[in-house]
Amino acid sequence: MLDEYKEYVDRMSEIRRLSTPSLNEIEVADDYRERLRDNFVRIGELADLNRKFLDAVFYPIIKSEDLLGSESVGEMEEFGEQLVSAETGESLDLPIMSLLAERLFKDAEKKGDMSDRIRQADSLMVTCYELMNMTRRIRAYPEISDQYRQQGFEIGNFFFELLEKEVFLEQDMDSRMVILTDIRFSLAFYEGLYGDKESNEKQLFLLEKLLDITEDPFYKDAVPDFDWIYARFRTLNYYAMTAESLNSCGFSPEQLEQIYLRSKELCEIWDANEDYLGKMLEGMDDRRYIEFMYHRNSFLAGHLSEEDFRKKLIEIYRQRDVRDYAAASIYLNVSIPCEYIGLLQGKYLTMEEKLTLKSIYENMISYAFHMPNGETMTVMLEYFAGIIEDFIEVPGGVTFENMVLQCIVAFHPPTYVHSVMVGQITECLCGHLIRLWPEKLIGILGCSSVEEVVERRDEVLSFAYHAALCHDFGKITIIDTVFVYGRRLLDMEFNLIKTHPKTGYDMMKKYASTRNYGEVAVCHHKWYDNSRGYPEDFDSRKYAVKPIIDIVLCADCLDAATDTVGRSYNKGKKLSGFIEELKEGAGDHYAPWLPDLLSDPLATADVEYLLQNGRQQNYRNVYYLLRNMQEREV
Ligand SMILES: [Fe+2]
Ligand SMILES: [Fe+2]
Repeated sequence: MLDEYKEYVDRMSEIRRLSTPSLNEIEVADDYRERLRDNFVRIGELADLNRKFLDAVFYPIIKSEDLLGSESVGEMEEFGEQLVSAETGESLDLPIMSLLAERLFKDAEKKGDMSDRIRQADSLMVTCYELMNMTRRIRAYPEISDQYRQQGFEIGNFFFELLEKEVFLEQDMDSRMVILTDIRFSLAFYEGLYGDKESNEKQLFLLEKLLDITEDPFYKDAVPDFDWIYARFRTLNYYAMTAESLNSCGFSPEQLEQIYLRSKELCEIWDANEDYLGKMLEGMDDRRYIEFMYHRNSFLAGHLSEEDFRKKLIEIYRQRDVRDYAAASIYLNVSIPCEYIGLLQGKYLTMEEKLTLKSIYENMISYAFHMPNGETMTVMLEYFAGIIEDFIEVPGGVTFENMVLQCIVAFHPPTYVHSVMVGQITECLCGHLIRLWPEKLIGILGCSSVEEVVERRDEVLSFAYHAALCHDFGKITIIDTVFVYGRRLLDMEFNLIKTHPKTGYDMMKKYASTRNYGEVAVCHHKWYDNSRGYPEDFDSRKYAVKPIIDIVLCADCLDAATDTVGRSYNKGKKLSGFIEELKEGAGDHYAPWLPDLLSDPLATADVEYLLQNGRQQNYRNVYYLLRNMQEREV
């Protein structure tokens, strides 16, 4: 049994390597697509094995009504541990890990053995936290991440009840240590909880209580081997983080003063134990990070002017190492500049500030491109979601459209090629529509007659191309779910994927460069007649851009059906096969005029060209783009 678990883990990590091949192994641009295609054939085989294992072994255990035997529990626990990559600490399959943790926790509750329950609550809390963080990037649907937050709070309460002195003494030594560590950890579930007075008060109350415990002789005697210095340091560390950027959590001035004083104490405890704490953290956080939190809290409590705070941020930012992808360096390279940008939000920008902004964005993008084979993806995605959320678009600077496109290339090249393909196919089909039946486009960009559509052809085509190029922007927040190639998606993952049209819409509506494409993005998974597809509460039929939506819907499915890269279960259809599909779905899934449009000889020839030469060219371009960015000195 154990071997089967191990094999699943090995296959998952091989799939990860295969899906992001190192460019150093590929010497010629023309080989890039071929390499990806070969890799995806192999990924398809591995995924089949995974599917069999999950269906035959794993899911039956997860679903079974009987309590698991102790041997089985032990094996599952080991499986869970192996699902975390040894090299990077990134999880190889978080959703599977969470199914496992939940099952083991429920079993332990039924069995009623306290030390068992404590151990399983501990792993469940870790997976809940990771899931909360991952889904927090989906700003359009906060309820998804809130459900994990609530679960985390519940587990936190379970641990808090065990702190009761008499109850605490009933636990064995290992359990006591877990309780003390996890109570601190449970405070991480407050991250990003906005502006709720009651929860702010509770959070600070809990932090104070934890600090008291680190000096309480009762607990110190009860767990003499616990690392009390580290515990106090970490608690202060959490304390210093609570207000978040620009006090977005809405703490009162008195509370901010209290947070400020505790950050001061954090600096002191660090200085007094620097060697020891530095070793404990292994470069995870360091002095610069602690300094940063101190300055932030000084600023928020009114002890440091905004101008001086900005200067401090730039000073810290200058110390970054652009070649380093350890957590502390990611922080300096990406999060410190985000804090700086946050301060510029909604303000009049001087020329100097505009230029600083431009170079910060360029540096951050460049840093993302240097990320070695997606190894630190989870942390990077978390920060980049913030950058995209608080993006500032200024004329002449980096546009929002470009920023997101660059992120897509850096994080997932096949999605970028897909976006460009959908852009090109859409533009091509739109051109043929103007040639054949321009009356269908009346209403687009305010065109009121056939003559106007023909006259403003270039404008219409450019609109169609860009709208299509941006159609999957919302995927940037769920890119780690998009590239789950190793098995069938879980329902929970399908639900995450379904958020991308609305996410894209929400972000595109905020910026001049993408505002007009939002309606196309939000409706590209809706059926022509609105009978199916998602999101449910949008009806594409009421938008003036409806014909463009119809074309993008078709172009999107066409590219997906004919490409093999990035889709492990896809054998890659021919254009003729797709046109058959189009005919079957004409009238409900697809616009009724689409089969005729695609069957027009000139249109067929153009689309065929795009699918063959165009796609190959797009992969080559991506290869050069990635290479150039990676070789560029930052
Ligand atoms: Fe999509
Ligand atoms: Fe798409």
